[in-house]
Amino acid sequence: MSESHGSTTWRRGSVRTSATFERACDVTRRNIKRNAMKIKKQIIVRVLAATVITCAVIYTTTNQHEANVAYEKEVHKYRFIEVNQIEKERITKMFSNNSFGFVRMKNESEVLNLHCDICAIVTSSGQLLGSGAGAEIDKNTCVIRMNTAPTRGYEKDVGTKTTLRMFSFVNLQQQLFEKEQFFEQEGITGTFVIWSTTVKEILSMVEEESLRLLKQYPSLDLYISSFEQMDFADRVFRQETGQDRAASGSWLSTGWYTLLLALTMCEHVKVYGMVESDYCHNVTLINDMPHHYFDASGPKECVFSRLHEYGLREGHRFHTEKYIFKKWARVFNITFHHPSWDLDHEDNETRFLLHRTGRLQ
Ligand SMILES: *[C@@H]1O[C@H](CO)[C@@H](O)[C@H](O)[C@H]1NC(C)=O
Ligand SMILES: *[C@@H]1O[C@H](CO)[C@@H](O)[C@H](O)[C@H]1NC(C)=O
Ligand SMILES: *[C@@H]1O[C@H](CO)[C@@H](O)[C@H](O)[C@H]1NC(C)=O
Ligand SMILES: *[C@@H]1O[C@H](CO)[C@@H](O)[C@H](O)[C@H]1NC(C)=O
Ligand SMILES: *[C@@H]1O[C@H](CO)[C@@H](O)[C@H](O)[C@H]1NC(C)=O
Repeated sequence: MSESHGSTTWRRGSVRTSATFERACDVTRRNIKRNAMKIKKQIIVRVLAATVITCAVIYTTTNQHEANVAYEKEVHKYRFIEVNQIEKERITKMFSNNSFGFVRMKNESEVLNLHCDICAIVTSSGQLLGSGAGAEIDKNTCVIRMNTAPTRGYEKDVGTKTTLRMFSFVNLQQQLFEKEQFFEQEGITGTFVIWSTTVKEILSMVEEESLRLLKQYPSLDLYISSFEQMDFADRVFRQETGQDRAASGSWLSTGWYTLLLALTMCEHVKVYGMVESDYCHNVTLINDMPHHYFDASGPKECVFSRLHEYGLREGHRFHTEKYIFKKWARVFNITFHHPSWDLDHEDNETRFLLHRTGRLQ
């Protein structure tokens, strides 16, 4: 699938058939499957390569190594408060260029304009299983959920309230294949937001599919991302990592789009069930949690996120994204719950990975 970065204003797209949309999605799914095998091989090769490189580096720099680490820590300590001010300006500037947002399907001259004091972003992570966080989550002014993550049957751990649901266009047909069951179970509550793409052909297909969804569920308060919003999300990734998102062969995650949106609408963002960027470095198959709380027998969290982080094509950079979220959390009012995050803890592992692959400047 090619990426297009041409500029255009948002316009309800003229028409592609849904067969084309299905084909596009099928191709994407097939590619993902095909790449999974490649990615596994790549991981083995990369881990071996990393081991060799790490050993070589440690061997050649044994004497200087400790001094350098101490020096970097000192510099960091010294810069922290100042960096905070500079970071604040930098990040505020970066976010202030976000002018377009999400367009209402019922009336394209309206954009999403929600405001909440305290937002809970409920991730879909298996970390939430047994957390008992449900009551606390429901106390927040707004509760944001992702994709088709259910509340029914998991109320104790994830709560019942839904103010906004962020949905990936990739799953639009696939997951909503069972949409009747989903809406019947979850009800049609809150605002439904679809993040889409900057690929114009696909964008118009997603628009069409969204209109069809609206026809079927007229009471749905449905929004879809503008081209500019998606372009903005890519630009933020580029500014934070020094790498072009598309060229580095990755997709941003639903969590990325959700946090970007939450930062524009909430005074305080509380994230539930998200682990720190280097959490998986300590996790083995035995203590790995389910990737999704509602799919206990499905993929494991760290197996899944490693596969993506190291993947050369069509992966999500889950670790890198979390590394960036921590930077934002030092500047904005973002807090992490179940598990909580130690904002003073430096993740040197993901940083290392980013440097090694040239993904961080
Ligand atoms: C602001 O956004 C526009 C596109 O909407 C882009 O061309 C421009 O480079 C951005 N400016 C900054 C400072 O990021
Ligand atoms: C669409 O939204 C605009 C801006 O809020 C409003 O002025 C207009 O009346 C709306 N159109 C319809 C058909 O509701
Ligand atoms: C974050 O927001 C909460 C309100 O939910 C407030 O009590 C707290 O002081 C804020 N923290 C910072 C650092 O602004
Ligand atoms: C990894 O495990 C060690 C020892 O249990 C612990 O001190 C450290 O904080 C853990 N690191 C992460 C990133 O969880
Ligand atoms: C990261 O820090 C830990 C201790 O805090 C250390 O054991 C590890 O070797 C470091 N990793 C890298 C890549 O520097």
